[in-house]
Amino acid sequence: MNPDVNPSRTRQEAEPTSGSAQAPVWLFVLVAVLAFWGMGFLDNYGGGFDPRVYEPYSARTEVERDQPSTRGRERFNAGRLAFLQYCAPCHMETGLGNPANNVPPLVHSEWALAEPPNRLIRIVLNGLRGPVKVDGKDFNSDGMLPWRDTITDDEIIARILTYVRGNGEWGHNASEITAEQVARIRDETKARAVQWTIDELLKVSEK
Ligand code: HEC
Repeated sequence: MNPDVNPSRTRQEAEPTSGSAQAPVWLFVLVAVLAFWGMGFLDNYGGGFDPRVYEPYSARTEVERDQPSTRGRERFNAGRLAFLQYCAPCHMETGLGNPANNVPPLVHSEWALAEPPNRLIRIVLNGLRGPVKVDGKDFNSDGMLPWRDTITDDEIIARILTYVRGNGEWGHNASEITAEQVARIRDETKARAVQWTIDELLKVSEK
């Protein structure tokens, strides 16, 4: 006989029997909580089961028709690229400028956001020198050179300014600028060769 054999191991396991056990209370609580959350979710995001929310589109053109116009978005994105090329070297990609080098920010700039934009367009076309206060801080530099002859396409200037003024990431929501607006001011100021000063610009009527 082998002394290592444990008699209890050789005993047969008891057969499983069927029975009933109480469903755990937490399960009911969980279901109730989920149902409650689900109702709230539908209430908030279900759109009231409004057909205008749920109606399927039958054609791609219908979907496109109902999209917010992409035209503005394209100009904005193109404006960003031109901004990075022409303006960001000084005003920085963040639009915060470079205060240590006397470059003011465009973010929250009253000059950039001004309505109407006829002073802003003049600043870009002919540049700016001398003291200027931007968002409560003083700057004084002659480093903002004229773009009149460098960016001859009015639509590019319009897009850049549309980007600067409409940049939601900067908290901006000012009106779009059109090539026609730029063209008009380019024409009005065509005799001017030198940079603006703020004093001169303030005499430009806000028309
Ligand atoms: C070479 C550097 C440089 C570049 C490039 C440049 N700027 Fe400026 N910008 C300045 C400086 C410096 C001032 C402040 C001038 C002053 O002190 O009178 C200024 C001022 C301005 C202002 C008025 C003040 C403000 O901060 O709102 C606007 C608007 C502006 N720039 C827009 C632009 C735009 C748009 C571009 C691109 C087309 C551009 N700048 C490119 C240097 C630059």
